[in-house]
Amino acid sequence: MPESIAKVIDGKAVAARVRADVARAVAELREKGVVPCLNVVLVGEDPASQVYVRMKGKACDEVGIRGVTHRLPVSTTEDELLALLKTLNADPEVDGILVQLPVPDHIDPDKVTDALDPARDVDGFHPFSLGMLMSDRPGMEPCTPAGCIRLIDETGIDLKGRNAVVIGRSLIVGKPMAMLLLRRHATVTVCHSRTRNLADVVWTAEVVVAAVGRPQMVKGDWIREGAVVIDVGVNRLADGKLVGDVDFEAASSRASWITPVPGGVGPMTIAYLMRNTVIAACLRRGIDFPSGL
Ligand code: GUN
Repeated sequence: MPESIAKVIDGKAVAARVRADVARAVAELREKGVVPCLNVVLVGEDPASQVYVRMKGKACDEVGIRGVTHRLPVSTTEDELLALLKTLNADPEVDGILVQLPVPDHIDPDKVTDALDPARDVDGFHPFSLGMLMSDRPGMEPCTPAGCIRLIDETGIDLKGRNAVVIGRSLIVGKPMAMLLLRRHATVTVCHSRTRNLADVVWTAEVVVAAVGRPQMVKGDWIREGAVVIDVGVNRLADGKLVGDVDFEAASSRASWITPVPGGVGPMTIAYLMRNTVIAACLRRGIDFPSGL
């Protein structure tokens, strides 16, 4: 076992601080008679999605957001789902709407995302939200990448001029992550399944964000000495063990900071969902952000 030198970024603790800030913000809003409200829609019975949706409801309760969960059967048609979203879009009490992904195969996920009112798009997946992000204008930032930036900030490093390598080009993580890193003036490389010499590219990185969904595919000797390593992956091995996209043990002997799995990026996503819901509540109602948000 290599000697570990990296400091571990405690995502659970950071997420708890974000949620505490959100809870204070919600308390301030409630004093003004404003109760932020998040509606979560789950279609079907995907076990992982059920867990996530339950966690989102629990997080709402904890910070004082009114959480409403719509559990729809797998037989729900695309039209029925779009009709529900239309109703939620028109409800003045609803600040945030989220459809848990993946949706069943007979439903087009793009149509679902496009049907959301961008002002209520707390996931930040709507093309409008993504366009605003790309235009460097204020809008809903996708929760996981926003959480990753916060974890990088926790290390105290300044991203300006740093070489950052993002592995993965999904719309949910990789692409928005690259945009957020660019906004912080990092020099950003986005790698994916067709990238040649991935190890050599990763070795140039002072900051690595791994979001490919392949267990421990980023090897320890790919990591430059002193790099900050953010692992977005959540993969279950045959023996039930949860691991990230990075070989944590090996990478720890070279990195300066690294996120664990579980307890790294994972808890940040829901914390930032809560934060986005409060931001949406304020923007929609034309009220100032509460202090500390
Ligand atoms: N499925 C996996 N991650 C997410 C997420 O962040 N939001 C939604 N809506 N679905 C997901």
